[in-house]
Amino acid sequence: MASPITVQPNLLLERILTIEIVRVTERAAVSAARLRGRGQEKAADQAAVDAMRRELNKLPIDGTVVIGEGELDEAPMLFIGEQVGNKSGPKVDIAVDPLEGTTLCAKNMPGSIATLAMAEEGTLLHAPDVYMDKIAIGPGYPKGTIDLDAPPEQNILNLARAKGVKPDGITAILLDRPRHADTIAAVRKTGASVTLITDGDVAGVIHCAEPKTGIDIYLGIGGAPEGVLAAAALRCIGGQMQCRLVLDTDERRERAEKMGIKDPRKKYEIEDMVRGDCLFAATGVTDGPMLSGVKFAKGVIETETVVMRSVTGTVRRVQAEHRQFDKFHLD
Ligand code: FBP
Repeated sequence: MASPITVQPNLLLERILTIEIVRVTERAAVSAARLRGRGQEKAADQAAVDAMRRELNKLPIDGTVVIGEGELDEAPMLFIGEQVGNKSGPKVDIAVDPLEGTTLCAKNMPGSIATLAMAEEGTLLHAPDVYMDKIAIGPGYPKGTIDLDAPPEQNILNLARAKGVKPDGITAILLDRPRHADTIAAVRKTGASVTLITDGDVAGVIHCAEPKTGIDIYLGIGGAPEGVLAAAALRCIGGQMQCRLVLDTDERRERAEKMGIKDPRKKYEIEDMVRGDCLFAATGVTDGPMLSGVKFAKGVIETETVVMRSVTGTVRRVQAEHRQFDKFHLD
């Protein structure tokens, strides 16, 4: 007789949570999508926050929000330090961005998502809501191919060599911001192509690990919370990322210190931002290169979610059809 399959209880729970967190980002995405294209960034964000919080509180976890909507005094819900979950499961850190790309959603432009990452307690970087300088590439390259402190040209040349192409075979992605003008010029000077996005750099980083996007490297400055979420995704699917918090004022340095940042100039690798196993999920709000947005058909709501688990590196795409969404929506 074949011996019974045994699964460690914590592993089993974690596997179950992989599916459970899909519900959380699905609910947030549908709630935000109802306000797509209405020009109401705050309302769309609030709808996503409310839904995500409600769903997180149903999960069998003893969770603490470490990347959230802000400090307690500025964010009434999903604030940093808020306890979530029904307390019947493992202690976990949670990073949330209930609506990543609020402007994209308000303008019904491609690429807004609802996203979260979950990891063992004490393993996610407690990043303040400041800017973060980031560089990232996908998996399969030797360690050291990129360096946050090297000039952009050098990173493009090193990556091209490692990929076995000329620099014109490299595509970089950056947020379209005046602060990136010099970097964009430097990248183009090498012959590489530049893809500019107006918002949404969690997906921007993940694109480097998705061959179908044609993106090879992410460069530039975006939000620090988004950096930690992207690092969680790359921890699951592979790739390299280096980041540094932009702590350019006393006020920002003090805030960071309060959150436990000892070295304001520290260069973070993925393993410093996500120090253990993690789960990552994102559901499309508007259509984008990574995920389809929510579709409201007659009697059915369709969502697409990507969910990843670092223990195995498994990536699942969940195409869901919700037939009685509102019936089960409320507490
Ligand atoms: P929001 O969803 O909070 O608006 O963030 C969108 C975003 O584009 C992020 O993806 C990115 O990290 C950040 O804003 C960049 O900040 P800024 O718009 O100030 O350059």
